[in-house]
Amino acid sequence: MVGLDAFFFFFAWLLLWTPSAYANTEKVIFSVPDTPSGALENVINRSNLDLIGQLSPAAGSPEKLLLRIELPRDFPTESAPRGVDSWVLLKGLKPGARYEARVCWAATTPSDFWLSVYSPLDDSSSSDIYLKISAIASYYTTNATLMSNPEPVLVDIILDEFLLGVLPRSLINVGLFIVVIAGVSWYTGLLVIRWLDGITKKGLKDKVA
Ligand SMILES: *[C@@H]1O[C@H](CO)[C@@H](O)[C@H](O)[C@H]1NC(C)=O
Ligand SMILES: *[C@@H]1O[C@H](CO)[C@@H](O)[C@H](O)[C@H]1NC(C)=O
Repeated sequence: MVGLDAFFFFFAWLLLWTPSAYANTEKVIFSVPDTPSGALENVINRSNLDLIGQLSPAAGSPEKLLLRIELPRDFPTESAPRGVDSWVLLKGLKPGARYEARVCWAATTPSDFWLSVYSPLDDSSSSDIYLKISAIASYYTTNATLMSNPEPVLVDIILDEFLLGVLPRSLINVGLFIVVIAGVSWYTGLLVIRWLDGITKKGLKDKVA
């Protein structure tokens, strides 16, 4: 039954890698401060920010873990080596919990991203966090329009909580899937072995008789 098991595991393995076939990923991992006076290393005055959107893991308020949006980008310059900044509010995070924020984009729109997280400057009691995404275009083309004015890049911005501080929640489903497939293939293997066993015994009996 090695063949069947191998097949299922190969399939599960393929499934694990499908996201990376679709997209490139850049991420930042951070822990939410759990003391009222605690804050992240970086702070930002939120009254000056233009937010492009909001993500929240809180089930009570509208839960939103994925934001599909077009981000402005530019070629790096001396004054802005990381291109254009966009800000996303991460709201309703659990104090003390670990999260990962990811940006995924298609390989057909070559870009580089930098992600960093900030605490609000004026309200340290809040567990809200501001995610900064800096985007540059990283391609070369003979098209002058595209070289002077890079088009926005379509991205998925994903917020993921680490369960028990180690495993991103979005990977749990893949883990469960592998466990289920392994169980099913083990059981199927057992049935087939019993069936083969039955045939062999019957064959022996027939011979003896
Ligand atoms: C944040 O910026 C606003 C507007 O520029 C300013 O009025 C305010 O004092 C700043 N807040 C802090 C805490 O620096
Ligand atoms: C350059 O790219 C833009 C945007 O994709 C397109 O509209 C335009 O036709 C292109 N120009 C040339 C000369 O290919």
